[in-house]
Amino acid sequence: MANEPVDDLTLPEAAPTGLAPETTAILAGRTRNGAALAPTIVPSSTFVVPTVDEGRRMATSTTADVFYSRYGNPTVNDFADAVAELEGAEAARAFASGMGAIAAVVLGLCSSGDHVVAQRQLYGGTQLLLQGACPRFGIDVTFVDGTDAGAWSDAVRPGRTMLLLAETPANPRLDLVDLEALGRIPGPMKVVDSTFGTPLGQRPLDFGIDLSLHSATKAIGGHNDVTLGVVAGSRELLDWIWGFAVLQGANASPFDAAGGLRGLRTLGVRLRRQTDTALRLGRLLEADDRVAEVRHPGLASHPQHDLAARQMRLTGGLLTFDLVGGLAAGSRFVESTRICRLATSLGGPETLVTHPASTTHVGLLPDELEQAGIGAGTIRMSVGLEDPDDVARDVLAALDAIDAR
Ligand SMILES: Cc1ncc(COP(=O)(O)O)c(C=O)c1O
Repeated sequence: MANEPVDDLTLPEAAPTGLAPETTAILAGRTRNGAALAPTIVPSSTFVVPTVDEGRRMATSTTADVFYSRYGNPTVNDFADAVAELEGAEAARAFASGMGAIAAVVLGLCSSGDHVVAQRQLYGGTQLLLQGACPRFGIDVTFVDGTDAGAWSDAVRPGRTMLLLAETPANPRLDLVDLEALGRIPGPMKVVDSTFGTPLGQRPLDFGIDLSLHSATKAIGGHNDVTLGVVAGSRELLDWIWGFAVLQGANASPFDAAGGLRGLRTLGVRLRRQTDTALRLGRLLEADDRVAEVRHPGLASHPQHDLAARQMRLTGGLLTFDLVGGLAAGSRFVESTRICRLATSLGGPETLVTHPASTTHVGLLPDELEQAGIGAGTIRMSVGLEDPDDVARDVLAALDAIDAR
């Protein structure tokens, strides 16, 4: 006898409560997926509207997902919902990239005459948006040392400061922002770029932050095969952002959103393994006199190690270190590794090394590089999923290659 067709997901109707985040990462974002276990990709850019009234309703609904895909799409909205659930947020919206998400937050929530406070330790693209584009739109930006909790509140201009924009851990030196202290500042909206933290490593909204955003191109996607961003927060704020986002047009592709959903399913094991390997490599590098400083929030030597323990569940696979020999040593190191590849990104299965001064932060002036703590010999490593012994041997061989020059 043929099986009965199953047209609904066979999960229990009411999901059990009190689940660990790793379990939520497996269960979430399946509302529009029928009985399929893998993400169903709905590539349609447009959908048949049943009546004029229904069309009018959907054209103005921030949650419509079968109207026109720049407004919303079933696969994309499933991905956004999954992130919202993991972040403990009411709502989320996915974007074509992390920068698409950041631009939508800043330009969607701020107007000419508004003021933004951001930290100096930022991903280079975010810094250029704030420094270059914002002033052209009449938005003033003050940069502060994000590690100094008092500097954030001191920079607030009552009645004018619309946003506080933090990034923690920050690219590339893994400086942390005290989320609880930031969340307590009254007035402006508090936004955290939590890309390095990932939704399983930390939950900014639990500390009073209004919006948590990610470049899902990184650990969430997790395989270097999607370009994706996402913002999570209250329904009200997400509705505001939606109003700008449908005009901005940086909506996520359903193909990338499916990659984001697939990535979320394995994020827990990947993040745990990458954290362990990063800590192990960090300790190895700390013991090597060719390395001046090693940064990882999980290492006891990190100046904000205690803060990491208070606000992070897992400290992640990013590791930053300074080579004693400056630019020559930095270039030689990244060109000598055989397993670790020289490429700009992070959070994937391959261990990647970058030289921030000449890549991710190449647009910064020398004094800005110094303020961000990026030296000529600074290396950022995104630890992957290879065997940790192989990666360790590769790193030591590349250090030897510097000496051999
Ligand atoms: C912390 C952080 N935020 C945002 C971005 C931008 O993300 P995307 O490249 O997906 O636009 C990056 C990219 O490296 C990043 O590292």
